[in-house]
Amino acid sequence: MNQELFEEKYGVERLNTNCTKWDGLEGKFGEKDLISMWVADMDFKAPEKVIEELKRRIEHGVFGYSQIPESYYNSFINWEEKHHNYKVKKEWIRYTPGVVAGIYWIVNIFTEPEDSVLVSTPVYYPFHNAVKENNRKLIFSNLINNNGIYTFDFDDFENKIIKNKVKIYILCSPHNPIGRVWKEEELEKILDICERNNVLVISDEIHHDLILKGKHLPSAIIKGGRYSKNIITLTAPSKTFNLAGCQNSIAIIEDEKIREKFDEYATTKARVSNGNLFGYIAAEAAYTYGEDWLKGAINTILGNYNYMIIKLKEELPEVIVSPLEGTYLSWIDLRKYINPNNLQEVIQKECRLAVDYGEWFGEAGLGFIRINLATSRKYVEEATTNLIKVLKK
Ligand SMILES: Cc1ncc(COP(=O)(O)O)c(C=O)c1O
Repeated sequence: MNQELFEEKYGVERLNTNCTKWDGLEGKFGEKDLISMWVADMDFKAPEKVIEELKRRIEHGVFGYSQIPESYYNSFINWEEKHHNYKVKKEWIRYTPGVVAGIYWIVNIFTEPEDSVLVSTPVYYPFHNAVKENNRKLIFSNLINNNGIYTFDFDDFENKIIKNKVKIYILCSPHNPIGRVWKEEELEKILDICERNNVLVISDEIHHDLILKGKHLPSAIIKGGRYSKNIITLTAPSKTFNLAGCQNSIAIIEDEKIREKFDEYATTKARVSNGNLFGYIAAEAAYTYGEDWLKGAINTILGNYNYMIIKLKEELPEVIVSPLEGTYLSWIDLRKYINPNNLQEVIQKECRLAVDYGEWFGEAGLGFIRINLATSRKYVEEATTNLIKVLKK
């Protein structure tokens, strides 16, 4: 399905639906009248089968205590095998009420206060919060930025681990905000360093279905699963099918001892062992019937990205847009045009954009913005036009 058709079928205005992205503008940015391109969800309706199955359940009219449907597990297991070549066993699958919640839990379970947790910056800022808010020590290893293309600094990565006796590394794969889909050799090196240094890996793969270039490789299948017992994979249908409000996420834990500790925490400390009945219905329908919808969504994101980079290259040749291999979040270096200290002023007050500011993702992001491209073309056109008009001045 091309962008035009996809937008015609699924495009929707979201204002006045209590959505964070549009209705939350005033709370977050202090004004309403902005083009909203921050927070990572899509301005598209979910696949029709998701809506149908939810309606069917609603019509039954009883919303009492529920069990996790067996068919839900099968839909996820089949999806992972078909799309990522990862053969997940049912007994490895656990519920978390969001990937971020899962990260908070794991940090709590597998580290003590003051232990060190490593992240590769710039990276999704709730990773930072999960460490800091739990009174653990947050260690940064900056990615190397070569003209917008980011790679790991393996030496720095390992040195930081050794020096700080790091206990957990939070990997973002694909990486929000810099859009990389990590290659096999990169993942292998990272996982190998972690294993050699007894560092547990949280592999956040929430964006793993949103691949524009290259192929996503689950960390747990690298080298035939060589490192899988040292990894907790977190994923969800939320980014893939725009279901974040359902708060239905998945932890895949292959190691039995890690699973036991996780279960003990989830059932006795957090007292949360399964999720909302609608979340399972939405997830199952999406994993079972959502493939064509996803192809249309990816074409739409790609269309928006190509439109934006062509225009920016023509009009603002020194803006650096990182190649978008995965996610729908474009990472843009504006340092050649705007003094980083004035960035918010220019982007919000003059360009009228609500974006995620690079510095939220770590110091290395100062002077950058992150733009959400999972929206209709008209907003991408407006945002690009405003950027060009203001920055050319
Ligand atoms: C890398 C990453 N992890 C987790 C999340 C959020 O997950 P959840 O809403 O399930 O907590 C996001 C959302 O943007 C994300 O980009």
